[in-house]
Amino acid sequence: MGVMLNDTYVQLAFGSLIIMLVSYVLLRRVKYLKLKEPPLVPYKYPIIGHTIDFYKDNKNFIKKCHAEYGEIFSLFVFGKIITFVGKELSCEILKNHKDFSFIEASRENFPFENFLNRPNEFTDTLPRMVQINLSGQIKLYTERVQRQLIKSIDEMIGNGKVLEPPLKFFQFIIAKPIAATMVGEELSDDKELVNSFANVTTDFIPFLSIPPVLNFIHPYLHQQVMIFVFKYLNNPFKMHRELIKKKITPVIEKRLREMKESGDNYVSPIDILQRYTELLHKDYTVDIDVVTDNMIISIFASVYNTSNSLTFCLTWYKLVNNPQFLKEILEEQEQLYKSNEKSYYSTEQIARMEKLDSFIKETLRVNVNNVALQHKTLSSYFTFSNGYQVPKGRLVNICSGEIHSDKELQGQNADEFNAFRYLKKNSPATRADKSFLTFGLGKHTCPGRHFAVNEIKLTLHYLLLKYDIKKSSIEKIKPKIYGALKFPSDEGLIFEKRELK
Ligand code: HEM
Repeated sequence: MGVMLNDTYVQLAFGSLIIMLVSYVLLRRVKYLKLKEPPLVPYKYPIIGHTIDFYKDNKNFIKKCHAEYGEIFSLFVFGKIITFVGKELSCEILKNHKDFSFIEASRENFPFENFLNRPNEFTDTLPRMVQINLSGQIKLYTERVQRQLIKSIDEMIGNGKVLEPPLKFFQFIIAKPIAATMVGEELSDDKELVNSFANVTTDFIPFLSIPPVLNFIHPYLHQQVMIFVFKYLNNPFKMHRELIKKKITPVIEKRLREMKESGDNYVSPIDILQRYTELLHKDYTVDIDVVTDNMIISIFASVYNTSNSLTFCLTWYKLVNNPQFLKEILEEQEQLYKSNEKSYYSTEQIARMEKLDSFIKETLRVNVNNVALQHKTLSSYFTFSNGYQVPKGRLVNICSGEIHSDKELQGQNADEFNAFRYLKKNSPATRADKSFLTFGLGKHTCPGRHFAVNEIKLTLHYLLLKYDIKKSSIEKIKPKIYGALKFPSDEGLIFEKRELK
């Protein structure tokens, strides 16, 4: 009898559990079914969905979907339903940081903290660190950046050279002044270290470019394989990390010793390494691996983006392709150079490079990735102002290419490259708004943009003054396009030394 009763109880408990589970699944389904989702563009092939169209001719495919389905629509790409929005709704994503997250979306393809064996919150300190200690103190770095920039231009180009592919060289040129701000000027003279600063991000890219075909089997399989490759196999990233750690260790140890000895009289070196050391040390000891990983993420955020943008400036619809702009921009640089009484420019003088600034912004406008700023939906669902809804976890992308060429936002000549589009418009390259999304928008707008734009301006200034720059072929230089992404052309650039007039 006792056994029977027990059996009945077990059966009852088991039955209730099943009912609860079924109800839960059904309730969730009902909730999802109730959502008014954006139209899912029909596709021919199951599993593959829109993947081929999306990668083959992204620009025209997105344009066509936009024309047929309107402001918001969804596609089935590499095993995931992804939603795309245009200019009307983009701000609702970028300005609702509690409902959408850029960093969470980035983690799907690029679980960086995981590669480093760190918790997800590890990167949380970086935006404030950059905002306060880099962009917020730009004046303290301006002279140092120029000193290192002039040295690195000399080392890389000297009396003239053909740079092919240009990005490879510009990474080095940019890496040295960035190293000077990150780890101090002394270390920025270390060639091995600068080499790792220049390459740690790009050596990652071949891994990132592997198409996520495994996602056709399960949406997270690709991510898991990537994590395995980075954690357990040898790769160039690990080599750069070890080198950076080896180089900064004695500097950190020396600084901590001096901090302890000097107490209140300690004169703090000005660089990001010092800021992290001060933030993380306890009783003058610090976990060097933690400092190293913080430096690694700072390099990841800064070097590649900046050198990529600089290369676009020199290889796109730019000076080399449009010599009519060169004359005026060069005049501006020469005037500034002649009027300068000191060895280096001040931030105020850099701000006066207005034509150059407009040219940089225009270059960034036309070279934005066609689809960008992927965000992940955080709330259980989100309702857009036009009534469409997306569920938690949905990846939502912005059609940046269309926004950057929209006639209403950019003016009638939106399809043309006009180097002076922003001149006298009170619209510097660092200003992010709904018509210019290169640096994102809202709470998470790139905090390093002031530093980056200053560095690009200074590099262009010194390069234009010092060299005649020509392309090595007679063809117009065009960017490389992979799916929605744009990369600067690999075509060679010829740098010939010029006399300053
Ligand atoms: C031309 C160069 C650069 C470009 C195009 C660029 C672009 C971007 C973009 C699109 C975002 C995402 C914004 C969003 O979520 O809405 C971002 C975020 C960020 N960038 Fe940059 N960036 C550049 C240079 C730099 C530099 C030099 C640093 C300095 C270390 C930096 C540090 C960061 C950080 C820390 C974030 C995360 C901000 C946050 O999550 O709150 N960036 N950047």
